[in-house]
Amino acid sequence: MTTDDSTDAFAGGVAVITGAGSGIGAGLVSYAARLGMRIALADVNADAVAERVEQLRADGVDAIWRRVDVRESSDLETLAADVYDTWGTTTVLVNNAGIELHGNTWELPVDHWHRVIDINLNGVFHGIHAFVPRMIAGGTRAHVVNVSSVAALRTNPGTSAYAATKHATLALTECLAKELEPVAPFIAVTAVLPGSVKSAIFESAYVNDVDGAGAESKRILATSMEQTGLEPIDAARIIFEGVARGDLRVHTNPEASRRFIAERAAALAF
Ligand SMILES: NC(=O)c1ccc[n+]([C@@H]2O[C@H](COP(=O)([O-])OP(=O)(O)OC[C@H]3O[C@@H](n4cnc5c(N)ncnc54)[C@H](O)[C@@H]3O)[C@@H](O)[C@H]2O)c1
Repeated sequence: MTTDDSTDAFAGGVAVITGAGSGIGAGLVSYAARLGMRIALADVNADAVAERVEQLRADGVDAIWRRVDVRESSDLETLAADVYDTWGTTTVLVNNAGIELHGNTWELPVDHWHRVIDINLNGVFHGIHAFVPRMIAGGTRAHVVNVSSVAALRTNPGTSAYAATKHATLALTECLAKELEPVAPFIAVTAVLPGSVKSAIFESAYVNDVDGAGAESKRILATSMEQTGLEPIDAARIIFEGVARGDLRVHTNPEASRRFIAERAAALAF
């Protein structure tokens, strides 16, 4: 196990990123390339990752892409098998793919509720299930990175499905870290809690009402992204630096996170 906690240690390593075709995932791909990593790009949008891999290869980066729907555990199994066949290792797995859903809980269509849970929460589990046994068997320094959100720290009207998955992803990540510590201390685990980062997430977001809590929550979040959102490449730098340090939680917008944590702690206290 290396004790190097700078991102230099990632040079030559293998990064596997889900949701790699857009937004934060695309930023992570660019930053991994900058670090000299080999990269597997996974996304349900095959065109986006296929095109990006062509550009990366033209720049001399060793990269592969796979069409992966993170709702399907078999897609993640195939991805892991392909990555290990190709490179024999995984240095950093980022379970990043995610979607938004807005609306009053009792009005959300059942299939949309299931879709957001399947992608944002089950997708993270599927990545862990496919890769962590191989990481344990590999016995070398590795990182599991699960993208949660500041939505893990707050509860707002119109956001129950998304917030539930992000609270759950944070809890899942913390449990995983405690499980791996005694059996595979060479595997570090990180939950990423991004604040606002410029991406396409609100373009694909399903909003269940035109003038209710869902539309309002999407409007507030989309405006904040437009006005103060970080560039994905800047978020990616913060994420890779935190991951390299082995931080259990990485906050891309620490001031916002601190405020939400203080508000939540006060709300929970009795
Ligand atoms: N952008 C933000 O401000 C912000 C803040 C907090 C958390 N997040 C989280 O960051 C992650 C990335 O989101 P983003 O903002 O970059 O959004 P984005 O929409 O720009 O990118 C998400 C990517 O995931 C892919 N994807 C969607 N469903 C998939 C599936 N079933 N299987 C595989 N890939 C799938 C999409 O095709 C897309 O390329 C998400 O988990 C999101 O919840 C984003």
